[in-house]
Amino acid sequence: MNPATITAPTPNAAHAPGVAHAPDVAHAPDVAHAPDVAHAPGVIAIDGPAASGKSTVGFAVAALLNYLFFDTGAMYRVVAWAALEKGVDLHNAEAVGLLAETLVISILPAGDAQDGRHLTVLVAGRDVTWAIRAPEVDQNVSTVAAMPRVRATLSQHQRQIGAQYAHGHAGMDGIVMVGRDIGTVVLPDAPLKIYLDAPATERAHRRFLELQKRSKDASFEQVLADMQARDRVDSQRAIAPLRPAHDAHIIGTAGLGVQEIVARIVALAGVSQ
Ligand code: DC
Repeated sequence: MNPATITAPTPNAAHAPGVAHAPDVAHAPDVAHAPDVAHAPGVIAIDGPAASGKSTVGFAVAALLNYLFFDTGAMYRVVAWAALEKGVDLHNAEAVGLLAETLVISILPAGDAQDGRHLTVLVAGRDVTWAIRAPEVDQNVSTVAAMPRVRATLSQHQRQIGAQYAHGHAGMDGIVMVGRDIGTVVLPDAPLKIYLDAPATERAHRRFLELQKRSKDASFEQVLADMQARDRVDSQRAIAPLRPAHDAHIIGTAGLGVQEIVARIVALAGVSQ
């Protein structure tokens, strides 16, 4: 069986493979004010529970440092989405594991898309960036993410991408990798590990507002219940459970603005702005 193909974003990656495309400079810092990243760690691992701010913060840190932003949760979402789409039994770990090994997943920069995405996710060329954020995927993804064969496949690819970008690659100076087990399992030697956290009600409120923005029908109570269920599975699973690495910097994000959190992380990276 062919292994899953997972393509990391590069500055020249286009929305579709094989199409030349200008670098994504929309969020790059002003060159005149570019921070000095010469001594910054090439790998920054950011973990934390759902809607703790990992994606927004990780994206902003990556843009500021000219690092690749890599959201590993998107990969688990793709597997859950594909299982739903193909009618694969979501409780059959072997069948879902096999599916994970055969999927062709590309994770690319957002490019010109003006719809709030931080990256573009393709499965065999089909844009599933928003499809993998649907409530049905939310409700099933943690089951899939607890499956050993799925984790083995996706973690291996994440590790390869981390190693590829750690010392700069394809015009990027490093990588910000975001997930649940990046600092503990995927990249345990990452020189800078961040764990973002916030109370479940605050995180559910953020997710509820995001869904409303995308005109998705969901009650706050449902969003909170789904999130608590997901947190439970993510933190109690046998393999790579959600928890801070012993050497992670824990940042409580409740009441903090994105720029404030970004500034703390950039300072921890030893970069002066
Ligand atoms: O960050 P997110 O909500 O998009 O993550 C989707 C799911 O994938 C969630 O249940 C946690 C899981 N996940 C994981 O187990 N390990 C990762 N490195 C990233 C995400």
